[in-house]
Amino acid sequence: ALTAVLQYIFNSDVAVLDYRAPSLAANSISTHFSGDREAAVVLDVACGTGLVAQQVNLQDQKELQQAAQGSSSLLLTDGLSSLPAGLFDVVVIVGALSVGQVPVDVVRELFKSTKPGGYICMTTRSNHDNLQYKASLERELKQMEEEELWTCVEYSQVEDWERAVSEQEHGYISGAVYIYKKL
Ligand SMILES: C[S@@+](CC[C@H](N)C(=O)[O-])C[C@H]1O[C@@H](n2cnc3c(N)ncnc32)[C@H](O)[C@@H]1O
Repeated sequence: ALTAVLQYIFNSDVAVLDYRAPSLAANSISTHFSGDREAAVVLDVACGTGLVAQQVNLQDQKELQQAAQGSSSLLLTDGLSSLPAGLFDVVVIVGALSVGQVPVDVVRELFKSTKPGGYICMTTRSNHDNLQYKASLERELKQMEEEELWTCVEYSQVEDWERAVSEQEHGYISGAVYIYKKL
């Protein structure tokens, strides 16, 4: 019952915030994924109440909710690295790569979990308090591209990402979707 109540509260917040990140990410995945949709295995990291899986239009979805109540990042890193490498056609993380949540080095774990030729979809926010995090995330993504681990197939900056909630920001904050293909 508590889970149901928490899910209700979270999904109400989603409506109030006009939180569109799950559908934006799912659309981007759908645009780029060229494999067998019936057989695709998708890992939704930090899945929360599962909004991303609801939107991703690929058949075989396996979700892994890591430390759902926002506990340590160590748990997330350990959880992912305990999975066999190269297992998933698509690995997605939405709304969790930001300051105070999932640290940037988890990106390499997402990469390891993905099959060669598979896709990694990530999102982050571009509002003021997350700009430093976003810059370090982008440094890491670029660094991994220079290491020829993956190639960027989409970078979309979205102006009306979600409603602002801090007193310093009004209207909507912007955000970004990244899709990388593992080489
Ligand atoms: C804003 S919610 C997004 C949930 C879902 N992906 C969505 O888009 O609806 C952020 C999620 O990241 C998880 N999270 C944040 N920091 C985390 C960490 N360090 N380790 C594991 N999970 C974390 C939270 O528990 C929560 O489920």
